[in-house]
This record gives sequence, C-alpha cells and structure tokens, in this order.
Amino acid sequence: MRKELEHLMLSPIEWHMAADGPVVRMLDQSRLPHEVVWIDCRDHQTVAKGIKELWVRGAPAIGIAAAMGVALGVQPIRATHYEEFARQLKPIRDTLAATRPTAVNLFWALNRMNNVVQHHKGQPVETIKSILIKEAQAIHEEDVQRNRAMGDHGAELIRSGDAILTHCNTGALATGGHGTALGVIFTAWENGKQVKVFVDETRPVLQGARLTMWELQQNKIPATLITDSMAGAFMKKGVIRLCLVGADRIAANGDTANKIGTYSVAVLAKAHKIPFYVTAPTSTIDFSIANGDKIPIEERNPDEVTNVFGKVRIAPNNVDVANPAFDVTPAKYITGIITEAGIFKPGELKRKLGGKKT
Ligand code: MRU
Repeated sequence: MRKELEHLMLSPIEWHMAADGPVVRMLDQSRLPHEVVWIDCRDHQTVAKGIKELWVRGAPAIGIAAAMGVALGVQPIRATHYEEFARQLKPIRDTLAATRPTAVNLFWALNRMNNVVQHHKGQPVETIKSILIKEAQAIHEEDVQRNRAMGDHGAELIRSGDAILTHCNTGALATGGHGTALGVIFTAWENGKQVKVFVDETRPVLQGARLTMWELQQNKIPATLITDSMAGAFMKKGVIRLCLVGADRIAANGDTANKIGTYSVAVLAKAHKIPFYVTAPTSTIDFSIANGDKIPIEERNPDEVTNVFGKVRIAPNNVDVANPAFDVTPAKYITGIITEAGIFKPGELKRKLGGKKT
C-alpha cells in the first residue's frame, strides 16, 4: 500500500518573490521543534548568518542556501560590464564560502554558480542575474530529484519489520526536500514497509531529538529517541537491523565526514555485524580529496557543549572544551554508499563515479 506523506513536500528553504523584492525564505531550524518560524533573508549577509547559526543546516540544504545567497546577493549590483560584475560578485561568494567548512555541497554549489557566470560572460549583466536565480532554483529542484532516486535505491535494502538506527537529521529539513538517509526511510514507508526508527539524540546540537523526531512524528512513523551512548546497548540486544546516516563530505576512497558521533555508530555496527550505509548525493563526494584525513572539520562554539540549547549551563565555568561538529568514518566501516546513481561500495566510488559531472 502506498502512503501519501504530506510532510514530505516540506522544503526548509525557498526562493520567494516578496512585494519588496526577492527573498530567501528559511525555516529557522535552531528553534524547532517548539517554534515554527520562517525568516526572510533580504541580502546575502543574512543568508550567510543563517548558514552559520544553523537556521538552515544539513549538507545539501547548505548548498542550496549558498546558491540562493549568490543569486540574492548579485541582484543589487549595478554594473554595466562583466568585469565589474565579476569584481562585485567575489566578496559575495567569499562571505558565503566562509560560513561552514566541512559540507562540500556548499563549495560545489558556489562553483556551479561561478561556472554559470563564466559561461555567460558575453551576456548583459541583467541577463546573468536572472540566469543565476534560475540556476539556484535548479540546484534546489535537482536535489529533491536526487533524494527521491536515493530513496528508491536505498528502500530496496529495507524489509518490513526492520528497526533502523539513524544519527543527526538527514530528512527534508537537511535538504531541498524528502531527505537523504531519512529519505530512504520515508520511501520505504511510502512503499508500505513497516519500519521502526531508533534516533540518536545527536549531542550537542540535538538534531536527532529536535529535528529527526519532529519529522518522523509529522509523518506518523514509529520512532524511539535514545541518547547517543545507548546505541551500542540496543545493537547488542539484537534490536537494530540496519544503520543509515548521511554525509557532509565523502573523500575519493569513501572515508566519510558526518555529524560527530557517526564514527562511533559505525564502529559499533561493525562489531555487531550490522550493515552501515551512508546516503548522500554525488554532490557530496569530493574526488579532489584522496582520503578522510584531508577533510576540514568545523570546530564550533564551546557553549554548545557547556550549555544545553544555549541556555542552561551544565559544566563548571572556565573548563576546557572541544567541539568538533563532524568526525570521519573510515571506509572500512561503511557497507555501502547510497547515491542517486545507485549503491556503491566505498572502494568503487572513484572507478564508477570519478569521471562523472554532478
Ligand atoms: O551540523 P549540521 O546539522 O549541518 O550537520 C548535518 C549532518 O551531519 C548531516 O548528517 C549531513 O549534513 C547530511 S544531511 C542530508
């Protein structure tokens, strides 16, 4: 039986034509699940702030935001010549590029926007501006299509009755719509497979507790919230059949950067002989990086660790804190990588996808 999931139409970011000009409209995920607040960004600086402060987050959604940020940022440029336009575009790009270093989708999207500008060098500046809006919208639409394709490939791995463990948030909220790893679960559910999801809370920013649980609840999919440290115990009990996570950057050899805590899940899965799959669009694969050692890891504000949700302090004052937002899971722990082009073993990525344009 095919179920219709209305929530799957959700997109956390939209290009919108307001009465006073174009805006990038973002669902402020830092306030979910308690408040559903949309923010209209009227300039690229606000888009950059939104990426930095996690109003919009998740690798594919960050890429879409960056592309829309460029499209928005160029609109006030009054240049008549291409060279002047390109000169004024650079700081816009630089501001967006300086937001978050790990998710390669950000740089992928900025490069794609840049290539479009260069390709249309001979066109009037006003035409290039319109083309950039269309390109940002295309990046958004293509992301949803890729997610749907990943959902179709990945759902084949799921059997009715499976309990699936996931980490962080990889749903509609983290993408242009539908999601990556959570999108696979949504597709399986749409196809009538009865699944149950175990959701790691995902300390310290709690994307699992706040966002994944919210999405699963909206879609009425059975889910159990656990703390990150409980994952091993549930695996040992034999409760978990499959682990599905997303990715922020996959190196050419398949090593995968994803939300901090993913590595622990992967090692535990291997120890308990549970398949561990990464789900990511090919735009998340960085073939310029040979292995995971070279992936830049974002270090975030210590307050995320010392305080719960920025409010209640749980640690003594003046303590030393580390807060890497991501870790790298070596390819040897990854059973397969689900992409829009199919499912691959980490070692196959370069040979099978290395030469393809995404
Ligand atoms: O810091 P975040 O919330 O942007 O981190 C998100 C993740 O780590 C996701 O797992 C990853 O971006 C894949 S999202 C489809």
